[in-house]
Amino acid sequence: MKVFYRYAAFAVMAVVFYTAFVELVAPDVTPSPPPPEEEFVDIGKMTVEEFIIIGERVFKGKGSCALCHKRVRGRAPWLGEIAVTAAKRMEDPRYRGKATNPHEYILESMLDPSAYVVPGYGKKGTADTVSPMPDASKPPVGLSRFEMEAVAAYLETISGRGATVDLERIKKEFLSNGR
Ligand code: HEC
Repeated sequence: MKVFYRYAAFAVMAVVFYTAFVELVAPDVTPSPPPPEEEFVDIGKMTVEEFIIIGERVFKGKGSCALCHKRVRGRAPWLGEIAVTAAKRMEDPRYRGKATNPHEYILESMLDPSAYVVPGYGKKGTADTVSPMPDASKPPVGLSRFEMEAVAAYLETISGRGATVDLERIKKEFLSNGR
């Protein structure tokens, strides 16, 4: 019995010492908070890669796109191949937009979602003529042109097509009007 007590006491002390060590001595290893959305980027020197990263952040964050557009059980189509699908959309007789390439199609989808409504995804009772997707440039999301261009570049990239973005034009526009 005596032996048991000795072991029990040892175990208690071990726990006490370990806790004290973790609380008082061990370095703080709590993960640092994620970087803020508004990270500093020198637009003048921004590379296409950085622009695409901004696009991904907007898609998953501020743009709210990823809330509806999910790979599994989303209430909107998966966009992992949108730059490829876009060509078929623009050839569809139901297409009412003005886009002439995938980049423009993606931008148009954000600004005028009803220009083409993916079959089965239209607002109820509209026979797929009205999209339930909100205009991304309007509140509450209110993306700027720069942010929408970045999202389009990101979606083109994940589709396996390189981004076809005219970065110099976008930089010039952003530097002249801040949007
Ligand atoms: C409230 C849900 C919702 C949100 C938020 C949303 N979408 Fe959509 N989106 C849809 C639905 C539903 C469709 C399919 C109907 C249609 O074609 O308009 C769609 C269609 C699209 C299409 C065309 C898909 C195709 O296959 O032709 C693109 C591109 C797109 N969305 C991009 C975006 C981007 C980028 C954002 C974020 C800025 C976004 N969406 C935010 C619901 C949403």
